[in-house]
Amino acid sequence: MKELFVELSDKRYPIYIEKGLFGRLGKEISAIHKGKKIAAVTDENLALIYGEALIKSLTGSGFEARLIVIKAGEQSKCIEQYLRLCDELMDFGITRSDLIVAFGGGVTGDLTGFAASTLLRGIKYVQVPTSLLAQVDSSVGGKVAIDHPRGKNLLGSFYHPQAVFIDPELLKTLEKRFFSDGLAEVIKYACISSRDLFERLSESDSSQSLINEMEDIIYTCCRIKSEIVKRDERDTGDRMLLNFGHTIGHAIETYHGYEKFSHGEAVAAGMHMMTLKTEEEGLTQKGTSERISKLLNKYSLPLNAAAADKSELLGSIALDKKSDGDELNIVVLSEIGNAFLKKIKKEDILRYL
Ligand SMILES: NC(=O)c1ccc[n+]([C@@H]2O[C@H](COP(=O)([O-])OP(=O)(O)OC[C@H]3O[C@@H](n4cnc5c(N)ncnc54)[C@H](O)[C@@H]3O)[C@@H](O)[C@H]2O)c1
Repeated sequence: MKELFVELSDKRYPIYIEKGLFGRLGKEISAIHKGKKIAAVTDENLALIYGEALIKSLTGSGFEARLIVIKAGEQSKCIEQYLRLCDELMDFGITRSDLIVAFGGGVTGDLTGFAASTLLRGIKYVQVPTSLLAQVDSSVGGKVAIDHPRGKNLLGSFYHPQAVFIDPELLKTLEKRFFSDGLAEVIKYACISSRDLFERLSESDSSQSLINEMEDIIYTCCRIKSEIVKRDERDTGDRMLLNFGHTIGHAIETYHGYEKFSHGEAVAAGMHMMTLKTEEEGLTQKGTSERISKLLNKYSLPLNAAAADKSELLGSIALDKKSDGDELNIVVLSEIGNAFLKKIKKEDILRYL
């Protein structure tokens, strides 16, 4: 089993990565949690495939466990679903000495983590990410949130799990579209911090052959993320580098009402659109956007999201959490594997759209 730790000023928690880990989840959790009740939150798709085995594994290890099922999809990261989830947790009689398991993709993780951070002023939780995006990104680092009609993730907090359990085997049931969606985040890590990972992704023939290398790839991404989070837990400096492609990406998602583009697709377009322009401006090594576009094409990710009204896109960016008054921090690649932050005037983002 691969293991690494997220080291924070006042907390340290493990990330375990192993094929087949799901099969003994209850046992692994019993090693870190001594309470009685566990509420396992998942979405309807995952409940069908894994719900029974999940509850069996928890009860088999002596816990009183209840499965709470939410609708699948970004729409569940809303205030109404948050209130319903809190209701169900209270119906179960959850207390601060119990535990919540977030079993699912980024939607389940973000919503469940946000409920865990606020209900009773905080209930312990663990992340069991099941989508690639959640395994390499959203389950690590403690950002939890729901959406506001005015923008994504506007209601949220920093609330770290007790542990993260990652089983790459679970990816076998993930739809291809969501797999390449998660690959956008993997490509992001490669772009900002690992030329080696970029080469590895470029050399691989297809998503299918990458599957066999997933344990290693997930480990590399989680290592990069945990190192960055250690340097900047609260997202005021280096952690913003993880937002490469996200400023434009979030605006694209908001503009299209979260329907047309998935998160990863919007981020992919954002990375490429940004790099095309920063290369023109001489900030990025020549040829970088071409290399990114080849990689995105290979994994069926979009290169842009034109056909959008630029001033409306700008409106979405105004609410971006990386905004700083009239200024905005954008992430620029100097070359593959190295990135830096650049402050620009908000309206200047139009140049990159
Ligand atoms: N908190 C963070 O740091 C952070 C970082 C990046 C993204 N996010 C958030 O993550 C969300 C997107 O996450 P996502 O792409 O995982 O979306 P998701 O949770 O909606 O999962 C995508 C789809 O895949 C299905 N699925 C997940 N795992 C599966 C599996 N193993 N087998 C079969 N089906 C499976 C789900 O049911 C869903 O239909 C966005 O809301 C985004 O804002 C958060």
